[in-house]
Amino acid sequence: MDKIIVHGGAALHGRLHVSGAKNAALPLMAASLLTDDALTLSNVPDLADIATMASLLRRHGAEIVSESIEADAPAFGGRTIRLQAAQIADTTAPYDLVRKMRASVLVLGPLVARCGIARVSLPGGCAIGNRPVDLHLKGLAEMGAEIDLTSGYIEARAPGGLRGAEIVFPKVSVGATENLLMAATLAEGETRLVNAAREPEVSDLARCLVAMGAEIEGIGSDRLTIHGGKHLHGAAHRVVADRIETGTYAMAAAISGGELELIGARMDLLDAVADVLESAGVAMEPTEAGVRVRRANGNLIGVDVMTEPFPGFPTDLQAQIMALMTVAEGAAMITETIFENRFMHVPELARMGANINVHGASAMVRGVSRLKGAPVMATDLRASVSLVLAGLAAEGETILNRIYHLDRGYERLHEKLSACGARIERVSG
Ligand code: EPZ
Repeated sequence: MDKIIVHGGAALHGRLHVSGAKNAALPLMAASLLTDDALTLSNVPDLADIATMASLLRRHGAEIVSESIEADAPAFGGRTIRLQAAQIADTTAPYDLVRKMRASVLVLGPLVARCGIARVSLPGGCAIGNRPVDLHLKGLAEMGAEIDLTSGYIEARAPGGLRGAEIVFPKVSVGATENLLMAATLAEGETRLVNAAREPEVSDLARCLVAMGAEIEGIGSDRLTIHGGKHLHGAAHRVVADRIETGTYAMAAAISGGELELIGARMDLLDAVADVLESAGVAMEPTEAGVRVRRANGNLIGVDVMTEPFPGFPTDLQAQIMALMTVAEGAAMITETIFENRFMHVPELARMGANINVHGASAMVRGVSRLKGAPVMATDLRASVSLVLAGLAAEGETILNRIYHLDRGYERLHEKLSACGARIERVSG
């Protein structure tokens, strides 16, 4: 299995290209099941999760061709892919693919809306928490689907088609909002999604659906109204920039004491992150090409952070801000409100000399003057990258094992970082 080795202490400098967002690209790909026409997506990152979604969609009958790699991002993917599900060949999403990637459940809404039937494996447990899909199922049931759980599979049936409904989410869910938004475009009548997720990836999906002929009001708000029953057609859509990758590299610049210009980054999607970083002594400013990040006055300062649905501070940057806080002056209380088990990076950061105490959903981080490199491993994507950040600031060598987590969500991480001066290598074996 490949490893990443980081020799800490080098300040990052230069321009780093931000990729298209994984968490936008995955639902956008699933949306191709809503029409028999071709959907062309550009700025698609080259990641393991994208390949898994492509395998799943091919199984359902989609033809997927990679059209080009964009000229403005030559070294770092930016692929254009064309997806066409002229016919649905199979309405089952099997365990072996759903187990690999929970976002596979996003085919449920489109399949049942288009074919009146879908069989999708239940995703099961996950390293960061329980992650049930009850809100996806409850919403589809309110739209008239009959739902059965048999032999580990969700079976959804709506032979006469789905119908519009008012769905009030008791809790904000990105995936449930996306699944029901897609389903509602083909359902007969009007659907209202209340307390919907407002994440930029949800809005990106909604904009693509509109380009495909859907009628959606309230994009960007927590109340989406979908006038369904439209025949969707093909469209071309560019995947929004990855705000989580942007935040991660912003923290890489800060922890290493360097300065990066993040090309293609969208400052307007990062208000809560920029506020937290500013209080921590890190300046982020928009440039013509993206966002520039550097420490404001030299020192990092401890700051309290609580994760929240968008526009709050994202759970997908919680591990990274914790890595930054391990070397800040003073203390930082970091509270995770989205997932119940998203502190697996804590014992690994502690192995590098971090001072962190977890009390329930909060972690008290007391800054230390130096981290020390160590062999570490993590059990999810964001936890893994937080250890790379810690490694950039640590004295000596950090060896990160199980890096397949990184390959799921960070496009060519070691190449991007080493092009900006990090001493980082990937070794196989
Ligand atoms: C999306 O997951 C992202 N994944 C996650 O990114 C991200 O952490 C999460 O949203 C929160 O922002 C993709 O977009 C592919 P949720 P999702 O439904 O949709 C509970 C990463 O590192 N819930 O918004 O699965 C759930 O357990 C990842 O890139 C229910 O109770 O998240 C959680 O506590 C990991 N019932 C909360 O809601 C449901 O039916 C938010 O989950 C659905 C969710």
